[in-house]
Amino acid sequence: MSYLKEFKKITTQSLQIMKKQGEKISMLTCYDYSMARLLDQAGVDVLLVGDSASNVMAGHETTLPITLDQMIYHAQCVVRGTDRALVLVDLPFGSYQSNSEIALSSAIRIMKETGAHAIKLEGGHEVIDSIKKIVRAGIPVMGHLGLTPQSIYQFGSYGVRAKEETEANLLLDEAKMLEEAGCFGIVLEKIPAELAKRVSQSLHIPSIGIGAGKDCDGQVLVMHDMLGINTEFTPRFLRRYLNLGELIPQAVKNYVADVKNQDFPNESESY
Ligand code: KIV
Repeated sequence: MSYLKEFKKITTQSLQIMKKQGEKISMLTCYDYSMARLLDQAGVDVLLVGDSASNVMAGHETTLPITLDQMIYHAQCVVRGTDRALVLVDLPFGSYQSNSEIALSSAIRIMKETGAHAIKLEGGHEVIDSIKKIVRAGIPVMGHLGLTPQSIYQFGSYGVRAKEETEANLLLDEAKMLEEAGCFGIVLEKIPAELAKRVSQSLHIPSIGIGAGKDCDGQVLVMHDMLGINTEFTPRFLRRYLNLGELIPQAVKNYVADVKNQDFPNESESY
């Protein structure tokens, strides 16, 4: 829970206050109603309906295939399960890159059809016009720099970004650009901790890191990774808080055995 100022509902303003007061922001991905209830009750500040749903919910190799309609469905489910957290929704690949009109209409669909509070999109200078247009329409926008998974085929790997000075300087400039365009925060994914610290210190808006070290203003993880559901994914930045990848199969094995042995249901479980 928030310990400096108790927020009944997290808004984009709450996140600015947290940064100012030095309170770190917690963010997790979420894609459905039941998990949204659990995560919200546990006090997560921001629930990100990430396009990582493409990987962990739909089983695709990348985030590229998920559609705007599918993102809207996941966001509707999460919003129904959330009382306190800010619900942030990714604009999926193909729903904003063509031009700023298309970007705005995708953002409007998300806000109108889901009840979510903000949208996130990936990129720097190439999406600045779209960000300005969406912000002018009254929709809060979070940026996303560093390893932006929608560009994976351009990067060629999921390795750390901005290790070289040229890319690091470009990232610093683009972070400033995103702030000036009106973003209320920026996700920094898989960049050196020292660079993330410089970016965070140079911005008034909060930075949320994933694989970007401890000096970001907040942290985000993919829920399936931190709960150990997705066991094949073991990057250095990931801390596992539970091993559901073992606990769930064990529980299911117990259930199967009980059914086979005719131990379930017993009399007290029958009418
Ligand atoms: O879609 C997602 O899960 C994300 C996080 C990795 C920040 O964008």
